[in-house]
Amino acid sequence: MSNGFETLAIHAGQEPDPLTGAVVPPIYATSTYKQDGVGGLRSGYEYSRSANPTRTALEAALAAVEGGARGLAFASGLAAEDTLLRAVCKPQDHVIIPNDAYGGTYRLFAKVHEAWGLHYDPVPLHDLDAVAAAMTQKTKVVWVETPTNPLLGIADIAALAQLAHDNGSLLVVDNTFASPYLQQPIALGADVVVHSTTKYVGGHSDVVGGALVAADSGLGEQLAYHQNAMGAVAGPFDAWLTLRGLKTLGVRMDRHCDNAERVVDLLLAHPRVTEVLYPGLAEHPGHEVAAKQMKRFGGMVSFRVAGGEAEAVEMCNRAELFTLGESLGGVESLIEHPGRMTHASAAGSPLEVPADLVRLSVGIETVDDLLADLTRALG
Ligand SMILES: Cc1ncc(COP(=O)(O)O)c(C=O)c1O
Repeated sequence: MSNGFETLAIHAGQEPDPLTGAVVPPIYATSTYKQDGVGGLRSGYEYSRSANPTRTALEAALAAVEGGARGLAFASGLAAEDTLLRAVCKPQDHVIIPNDAYGGTYRLFAKVHEAWGLHYDPVPLHDLDAVAAAMTQKTKVVWVETPTNPLLGIADIAALAQLAHDNGSLLVVDNTFASPYLQQPIALGADVVVHSTTKYVGGHSDVVGGALVAADSGLGEQLAYHQNAMGAVAGPFDAWLTLRGLKTLGVRMDRHCDNAERVVDLLLAHPRVTEVLYPGLAEHPGHEVAAKQMKRFGGMVSFRVAGGEAEAVEMCNRAELFTLGESLGGVESLIEHPGRMTHASAAGSPLEVPADLVRLSVGIETVDDLLADLTRALG
C-alpha cells in the first residue's frame, strides 16, 4: 500500500469486509467467538479483551500512521500510560519525567506509581545536561511530552532518544498535542508513542481512549501481553469512533493550525495579554527544535494575562463560542483555566502552572467567529 499519511489513516487496517464488502470496519459488539472445535479459532479471535476485530482495525491504523510495529488501543490515555509503565518498569526503577506535563500524567507518577516503588524526577527536558545529570543506572524510561500541556514547551526528541539509549533507557513520547500528522516520534528515535486518542486522533469530543505504539515488535508483544493481562482495553464502539476520527486527522490538523495562527496574531496584539505561548513563534525558546521535528505547530495556544488569576478566570467565563471545558483536540474550540481545571492536581508540585494562564484548544470553526468571540472575552 502507498504510504502517504492520509492514505494510511483512511485505509491501513481497514480493508473492505471480506463477507459483505462494507468499506467501514463493522462494530463487532461481541465478547466471545465461536470456535471450530476446541482451540479452533477463526482468525485468532477468542475473547474481546484479548482481541476484537474493530479494535484490531484501529490498532493497525495507529501503528501505520505513527510508523511503528505495533499499535494498541486502550480505554483512556491514562490506562495506556499505566499499562506501559507496569510493562516496562518494576519497583525501585527510576523514570525521568518532564517538569511540565499533563497534570493527570504527573498524578499517575506521583500518587500511584511512586507508592509502588517507581521513583521519578521531574526535569526540564529542553536542558539536555539536566537530563543527563538526572539519569542513573536505574533509569528505565525517559518520558517526554512535546509540545507540553499546558505550557507548550518543546523537547528535542532525537537528542533525548540518543541520551536515553546511551543509558540503556527507553524513550517514551506522549504525542497527544502534536498528533501523528504533525510529528512522528518513532522516526526520531522514540521507542514508544503514547496518545490520549480522546484528543486530536478522535477529534470530535465524543469518545475517551488511549493508545500505545511500539517501534519494534518485541516491545510491542510485551505491551500487548500486558494489555490483555491488565484489561484496560478500548471497547468496540469506542474503537470505531476513534477510527472514524483518525480518517480526517490530516485535514482537521491543517485547519486547527491555520486557525491557531490567526488566534496567536490576535493575542499578540492585545494589551491585556502579557505572553503568548505557541511553538510557532520565532521567540518561543523551543521554536527551532519544533520547526525541525514538527510539520506545523498545532492547535493549542496558551497565554498569560495582565490581571492575574481573577482576570484569567473572568476571560474563561466570558467566552461563548470557545466553550469552557476540559479536554482538547476536538473540532469545537475550548477555553480553560489550567490552574483550577486540568492541572489542579499539580498544585503545590514542581509541575504547578501559573495562575494567570489561559489555555485554548483552537477548533475548526469559521476563524472570524473565533476571533470575534475571543475579542469579546478578552475585554
Ligand atoms: C498530553 C496528555 N496526555 C495524556 C492525557 C490523558 O488522557 P485521557 O484523558 O484520555 O486518559 C491527556 C489528557 O488530557 C493529555 O492532555
